[in-house]
Amino acid sequence: MTSAPAAGDWDELDSAYARFLDDNPVPPGGSLLAQTILTGAARRSLLPLLEVAPGASVLDLGTGYAPVLLELARRRAVRGLGIDTDAEVLAAAEAITGSLASWLHEGSSLRFRLGEAGSLDLEDATFDLVCARLLFQHLADPAAAVRECRRVLRPGGRAVVFDVDDGFSVTYPEPSPELGRLEAAFDRSQSLRGGDREIGRKLTTYFADAGFAIESVQLLAQAQHVAAVQGGASRAVNVARLRAARAGIVDAGLMAVAEFDRCLAAYEAEPAVPRFRAESQVVVVAIRT
Ligand SMILES: C[S@@+](CC[C@H](N)C(=O)[O-])C[C@H]1O[C@@H](n2cnc3c(N)ncnc32)[C@H](O)[C@@H]1O
Repeated sequence: MTSAPAAGDWDELDSAYARFLDDNPVPPGGSLLAQTILTGAARRSLLPLLEVAPGASVLDLGTGYAPVLLELARRRAVRGLGIDTDAEVLAAAEAITGSLASWLHEGSSLRFRLGEAGSLDLEDATFDLVCARLLFQHLADPAAAVRECRRVLRPGGRAVVFDVDDGFSVTYPEPSPELGRLEAAFDRSQSLRGGDREIGRKLTTYFADAGFAIESVQLLAQAQHVAAVQGGASRAVNVARLRAARAGIVDAGLMAVAEFDRCLAAYEAEPAVPRFRAESQVVVVAIRT
């Protein structure tokens, strides 16, 4: 088995993402690429949970820009498949992966395919590991996706699922009223589309109900005391995320256009107030019995 990459070993991946962003100032997937870059350190701390034997076959559901697959395929020789419903994001993930061919661990190969997590066009008992990071919060039918995880995993294979639960997030002092309104509308529009910002607490129940044995469940907390400065990366990602949701929020009647634009402009211009911010992701490792 190879050991973990040395510090700085992720520079090539980060540069490939940054180059893609430079070349595509309006990248597919809205703010997803900027979020992928910004959350690199937190995501990589999860890699030990994705331990697999060399040559393992890995399915990444809702792969996005494929950061999880790419990081795994750097550490180990894996055969990975990334599935997503967004063809443009998948094409970008494929192009970025192509540019990193010599950086991947010898023997690693990654493929990408359009697909729906709840009805996979894949054979039974094919994968050693199925992972899904920040996918389940978007699913209208999480139980269907869990059943598919079980079907495509080999007996003894593992599902590793990371997701949010807003019940474990705290900000102090409270965000400005404008940001509070935008965030409430954002969350509501996600749930109207069938998503669930409290999916984290429900994951073990879904997996146990589908016949998995729960191997571990963890709450990975991060806390910081920071000011999101105007024009800084974290505020820019947040603004891009909210802007990408504008049509959905307005179409659902959650905010009028003028009100949305007023709140977003106020948020963009607000002074940088240092705030305590804690958030946690739920991580479930479940075994296919
Ligand atoms: C927040 S992103 C996470 C991407 C990636 N897993 C990561 O950690 O950066 C969620 C991804 O799930 C995809 N997605 C949403 N619904 C899906 C579904 N029903 N089946 C497969 N992918 C889906 C989206 O297109 C998006 O790329």
